[in-house]
Amino acid sequence: MSSPTQMASLAILVSLVCAALASDAAAVRVELTRIHADPSLIASQFVRDALRRDMHRHNARQLAASSSDGTVSAPTQISPTPGEYLMTLAIGTPPLSYQAIADTGSDLIWTQCAPCSSQCFQQPTPLYNPSSSTTFGVLPCNSSLSMCAAALAGTTPPPGCACMYNQTYGSGWTFVFQGSETFTFGSSTPANQARVPGIAFGCSNASGGFNTSSASGLVGLGRGSLSLVSQLGVPKFSYCLTAYQDTNSTSTLLLGPSASLNDTGVSSTPFVAGPSSAPMSTYYYLNLTGISLGTTALSIPPNALSLKADGTGGFIIDSGTTITLLGNTAYQQVRAAVVSLVTLATTDGSAATGLDLCFELPSSTSSPPAMPSMTLHFDGADMVLPAESYMMSDSDLWCLAMQNQTDGGLSILGNYQQQNMHILYDVGQETLSFAPAKCSTL
Ligand SMILES: *[C@@H]1O[C@H](CO)[C@@H](O)[C@H](O)[C@H]1NC(C)=O
Ligand SMILES: *[C@@H]1O[C@H](CO)[C@@H](O)[C@H](O)[C@H]1NC(C)=O
Ligand SMILES: *[C@@H]1O[C@H](CO)[C@@H](O)[C@H](O)[C@H]1NC(C)=O
Ligand SMILES: *[C@@H]1O[C@H](CO)[C@@H](O)[C@H](O)[C@H]1NC(C)=O
Ligand SMILES: *[C@@H]1O[C@H](CO)[C@@H](O)[C@H](O)[C@H]1NC(C)=O
Ligand SMILES: *[C@@H]1O[C@H](CO)[C@@H](O)[C@H](O)[C@H]1NC(C)=O
Ligand SMILES: *[C@@H]1O[C@H](CO)[C@@H](O)[C@H](O)[C@H]1NC(C)=O
Ligand SMILES: *[C@@H]1O[C@H](CO)[C@@H](O)[C@H](O)[C@H]1NC(C)=O
Repeated sequence: MSSPTQMASLAILVSLVCAALASDAAAVRVELTRIHADPSLIASQFVRDALRRDMHRHNARQLAASSSDGTVSAPTQISPTPGEYLMTLAIGTPPLSYQAIADTGSDLIWTQCAPCSSQCFQQPTPLYNPSSSTTFGVLPCNSSLSMCAAALAGTTPPPGCACMYNQTYGSGWTFVFQGSETFTFGSSTPANQARVPGIAFGCSNASGGFNTSSASGLVGLGRGSLSLVSQLGVPKFSYCLTAYQDTNSTSTLLLGPSASLNDTGVSSTPFVAGPSSAPMSTYYYLNLTGISLGTTALSIPPNALSLKADGTGGFIIDSGTTITLLGNTAYQQVRAAVVSLVTLATTDGSAATGLDLCFELPSSTSSPPAMPSMTLHFDGADMVLPAESYMMSDSDLWCLAMQNQTDGGLSILGNYQQQNMHILYDVGQETLSFAPAKCSTL
């Protein structure tokens, strides 16, 4: 139970943190590792698993978008399957290090806490125990970061009230109570580490839908007030995801001042204002106005991928989705353009990969034919995807790494298409910038 005095000091801490980090020049650099569930896993299994996860996540989003009261919160399928990125961070005092999924499609930061009964999933690192940390506090229910704030609006929460919340993510969920802790970011040398007190997070003691041994929680990087980005008060963050074939190098996430694109060839496009209701309010919407393959502009109706007034449709960039998802009208244009350039026979690779368009290579050692780059035309910026970022090889299959869905749904730029690109989310300026980069050397 915390006294009113403790609550007040917590509230002050939270506002101090924002001020401290925003002016802290030594900003945060975090390594991201991609989950390769098993090095022997062949690419098709990887794609199939990733796709299954994407689809769960997506279906839940569609459901949420269609719920009139917007009560379904930030649904994403959280089972860390191949294609998710993990960041290392540490919680509490003394700091306990763990890895969590880095997700721009949701907000809450959470980890499993002791005591934990049978409803916790197996995690690779020891459980965090709030009672062993000198910096743990209960987040008061009347905090602006309380997930119970809406439910309690207009009432005076009892002193010591702690918010318990069942956060759903597609077919997954986690039951948390909200606390406040000191987190440590930056995995390598202490000089590069940042310790930040007063971060609101969820202590989970029950979850469902997880099937992993690689992550011990999740870090939301979305637009909402509970996300790491919002709580740190950093106006921008960037990441650079290494090539999918590269299983050795780590990717990088930069938060704060060091998140800047020093690369050449930087392009920028404004974020489009998204719906104000959850979970869509969390997403980073972009204005995709067209797609070209090589020099050919595909005939995609101008409004095919735009956000509608009722909050449906639109196009978002997401670190937690693997395969790009397009409305069927746009997808069929892409598909036809790819088919027109490839002389190999198409084959039904859906059983092996879950992908709709696959070609048969003469043998598992044949190189795929050369393909021109694909350009995503955003408002004011062209994103050029080399063939390796939109086609995927798997033994003797060579597939378009994109999926279709019913027209009118939410379209998503997945992380496969973001490989070897340094991507800067400038939430202060409301722009997304990107530049081709060799992410293994960043
Ligand atoms: C929260 O409630 C406590 C009393 O229970 C009060 O002292 C405090 O000022 C309130 N904080 C906010 C942010 O409303
Ligand atoms: C959380 O919600 C999910 C989905 O609605 C449900 O299956 C699960 O039992 C709930 N968990 C708790 C602890 O209430
Ligand atoms: C989780 O913690 C809450 C609050 O302490 C408690 O009510 C609940 O029974 C716990 N759930 C499990 C599965 O231990
Ligand atoms: C969990 O993963 C194992 C092995 O990867 C798989 O066989 C099993 O079907 C999965 N369970 C669920 C509930 O997805
Ligand atoms: C990755 O590491 C393995 C084992 O250390 C090594 O055999 C392999 O050549 C490396 N691959 C690349 C692309 O560097
Ligand atoms: C970009 O340059 C600035 C100033 O020299 C530096 O602080 C920052 O770390 C660099 N960022 C990257 C991603 O290299
Ligand atoms: C999207 O970009 C086009 C072309 O620049 C512009 O005409 C349109 O107004 C933009 N839409 C939104 C919602 O910003
Ligand atoms: C996706 O495309 C395939 C063929 O390319 C088609 O059979 C299927 O109906 C499409 N799905 C949707 C949801 O439009």
